[in-house]
Amino acid sequence: MSDRNIKILAICGSLRSNSANIQIINYVASQVSEQVEFRIFDGLASIPPFDDGEPNDDVLYWRQEIRAADGIFICTPEYAFGVSGVLKNALDWTVSTADLDGKPIALVTAATGGEKAHAALQLTLNVISANNVLPDATLLISFVRSKINKDGVITDSEAAKALKNVINVLTTCVKQSLQ
Ligand SMILES: Cc1cc2nc3c(=O)[nH]c(=O)nc-3n(C[C@H](O)[C@H](O)[C@H](O)COP(=O)(O)O)c2cc1C
Repeated sequence: MSDRNIKILAICGSLRSNSANIQIINYVASQVSEQVEFRIFDGLASIPPFDDGEPNDDVLYWRQEIRAADGIFICTPEYAFGVSGVLKNALDWTVSTADLDGKPIALVTAATGGEKAHAALQLTLNVISANNVLPDATLLISFVRSKINKDGVITDSEAAKALKNVINVLTTCVKQSLQ
């Protein structure tokens, strides 16, 4: 195995200040080993609506952050029975440049229900990453609000355990891909 740290880019599909999904990402960040550089993407809100013009600096930054990562951890809500618009928009900017191609991807959908966005996003991600969504690193957390307390602590032990498994599967797969 390569002796360098592995880089995971975490992407939150919610821009809400009190987001359950960012709380989950923060929890996962606290669970990774020191060998893992776990970076949370901070530019989703600045990415302009997709068009076929020249990408601006915010889009270039987004693409560069993905390319610099060895693996991708996405945690997102479902909105109106669909994928979060800001997340889908950002992903659309990666289609022509294939930035996600070959990157192992973990996907957590945390919402009230979330089934539809979870399924739709797997289709999208698999088509733009050459089928690199890891089946054992996909997780749907329904009724998420009842599983996290007001301080952002995950109170549901099954959800916490499943999240640990997702990040373990992702990091193991990334390590294998770097061998
Ligand atoms: C505009 C809006 C639409 C929503 N639509 C859905 C939905 O279709 N399915 C669902 O499971 N939850 C839906 N929810 C509930 C969210 O999943 C829930 O609020 C979740 O906590 C949002 O994630 P966040 O806290 O990370 O922003 C919706 C919430 C909002 C604000």
